[in-house]
Amino acid sequence: MWEHRLIERMVAVLKVELARMASSDTVDPVAIDTAVDFFRTYADRTHHGKEEEILFRELRGKALSDEHRRIMDELLAEHVTGRREVGGLVAAKARFVEGDVSALAGIRGHLGTLVEFYPRHIEKEDRRFFHPCMAYFTKGELNAMLGEMWEFDRKMIHERYGHLVDEWETRTAP
Ligand SMILES: [Fe+2]
Ligand SMILES: [Fe+2]
Repeated sequence: MWEHRLIERMVAVLKVELARMASSDTVDPVAIDTAVDFFRTYADRTHHGKEEEILFRELRGKALSDEHRRIMDELLAEHVTGRREVGGLVAAKARFVEGDVSALAGIRGHLGTLVEFYPRHIEKEDRRFFHPCMAYFTKGELNAMLGEMWEFDRKMIHERYGHLVDEWETRTAP
């Protein structure tokens, strides 16, 4: 939930950026790249990664109520939606950089969807899922998950930059 607060701050910044785009009819491609990196590396890989690969994995082994099982399925589907919107944003920005001015509408559309989507997703997790789901675990299980989450985070920066160099090597290979 602490990570949700940083995502909310990014959403607030992007709302300002969207308003600027609307009044100037142009876009700062570097700002879009920064937003994409935040959504992919932080919000999706680091944050959704811990939800899906640790918390949801452990919850699958519990006798969840119908409501909690349904919400978990919805949350997983929403993570997929988030990835799809970021993918759309990347594609629209690429078209804009190549000179397609009409791609501006796509950038605005995907960014607009993301700034609406994330607060709703976060509210569902904060208010209707995370707190009640803690009751499925013993204190020992909660501590074990927390330890695994710290380890997940510890590896993340190495994974991020490992992939970056891998990709660059592939692009520059003779
Ligand atoms: Fe989530
Ligand atoms: Fe979350």
